[in-house]
Amino acid sequence: MTSFSLPALTLATSCPKDADVVVFGVAESAGSPVLVGLPDEVERRAAKQFGQPLLAVARSLGADSKPGSTVVLPGADGRRLIAVGLGNIDVTPEQVRRAAGNGVRTASGLKSERPLRVAICLDAVEPEVVKGAAEGALLGSYAFVKVSGAQAAESIAALTVVSSSGKPEVRGAVETAKTVAAAVCLARDWVNTPANVLYPQTFAEAAQAAVKGTRIDVEVLDEKALERGGYGGLLAVGGGSSRPPRLVRLSYAPRGAKAHLAVVGKGITFDTGGLNLKPSDGMYTMKCDMAGAAAALAATRAIAQLGLKVRVTAYAAMAENMPSGTAYRPSDVLTMYGGTTVENVNSDAEGRLVMADALARAGEDSPDLILDVATLTGACMVALGERVAGLMASDDQAADHVLDAAESAGEAFWQLPIPDGTRKKLDSKVADLRSGGNRYGGALTAAAFLQTFVPGEIPWAHLDIAGPAFNDEGPYDYVPSGGTGMAVRTLVALAQSLQS
Ligand code: BES
Ligand code: MN
Ligand code: ZN
Repeated sequence: MTSFSLPALTLATSCPKDADVVVFGVAESAGSPVLVGLPDEVERRAAKQFGQPLLAVARSLGADSKPGSTVVLPGADGRRLIAVGLGNIDVTPEQVRRAAGNGVRTASGLKSERPLRVAICLDAVEPEVVKGAAEGALLGSYAFVKVSGAQAAESIAALTVVSSSGKPEVRGAVETAKTVAAAVCLARDWVNTPANVLYPQTFAEAAQAAVKGTRIDVEVLDEKALERGGYGGLLAVGGGSSRPPRLVRLSYAPRGAKAHLAVVGKGITFDTGGLNLKPSDGMYTMKCDMAGAAAALAATRAIAQLGLKVRVTAYAAMAENMPSGTAYRPSDVLTMYGGTTVENVNSDAEGRLVMADALARAGEDSPDLILDVATLTGACMVALGERVAGLMASDDQAADHVLDAAESAGEAFWQLPIPDGTRKKLDSKVADLRSGGNRYGGALTAAAFLQTFVPGEIPWAHLDIAGPAFNDEGPYDYVPSGGTGMAVRTLVALAQSLQS
């Protein structure tokens, strides 16, 4: 399996003299655009070279304070300057994350004979803002390494984040950003790897390899162990494939842990829809259907590497949903882990079945909070679009806790309800419950189904990342085409919040 390696990133208190590219900001202040972060000396030399103030030159070439705006200017000595729009001058970490991402993405597209040294000069001072700059720069440099291993010629040699603050908290913020960005890129790599290369067995092996050298214990249940344990959801969904299912359990249990978080991820390595076969258009991107598992695993690695004082138990429920003579049928009744029986109404509603097994198992660890992450429903995309994930929870306190973490991480979630009576739509004549309801509120019925498998006393939140896990269109900000690594940052931020 190929993997992307992040460029080196350092923190400096002034712009390195040898930077080939300097990224600086244009922000809106009292209705007018102003330069942000550009070192005086660079500005003076550029003004001299152009014979007019740099802001005027940048403006005449189209530079704007609008987020997403990027303009490349020729600087002195063959150096290039990239003006990126920051939006309002009172920047949030996310504004800076996006601007840095846009700057580095633009830099990596520049023609050059050798890899470029890129300086990010966005006047970041507060630790959270510096962290945003570093994360945005690293995430914006991501490129998937082809399956053949043929790596596109390296375009970025090194990144420097410039901050006038020499505070130790700022150094710490940059180190955290590196660990988090590496985890996001790991999740992206896994999502982008095609399903003939990444399938349950190889995904489980890759997970094991990824956490080697950390204080995480790994347990992998293969198909025989799943049979012995009675994991009827994973076995049914994985039964149509020649590539048998796996359940991966990671355990990070540091001394002095303040809380115990369980994370459960959907790991359908390819979703054909099974016997309820998807049409070609809907099937093409379904290698992304393991993005929840990828996020759960990668975030757990980051949490362990950061040495957070939180116990984390992560489950990745891995199966391939294929139609075949051994595939599970609509109307089959499955006996799930823990004994609940489920009538399968549609073999394309496979995610909730593998999640049910893993959630029931996660409950046995008696964690303080269970979070699940899944590319669960097209209905969630109909409701919220491609860039916002859905969040449903057992109670508003759990929901707010996750929403706060997501906000601080710069990821977009929107709470959806699980209205009274939703569970009633899942009543079955032949089993304890059916796997789906009618055509309305599909994201909500899916959540109600999952909730059945969570012990009532444990707070629970469900993240439906069907839209934002995979970017079907062109890159933007720090988000590439393909796997995005959605939810990794929120999971890490949540663990951070549980420490105090
Ligand atoms: N993996 C899909 C959901 C999905 C759709 C993820 C688009 C990413 C992009 C899921 O397994 C699925 O097929 N859900 C069905 C459920 C239905 C059959 C009840 C759906 O949403 O149509
Ligand atoms: Mn499906
Ligand atoms: Zn699916």
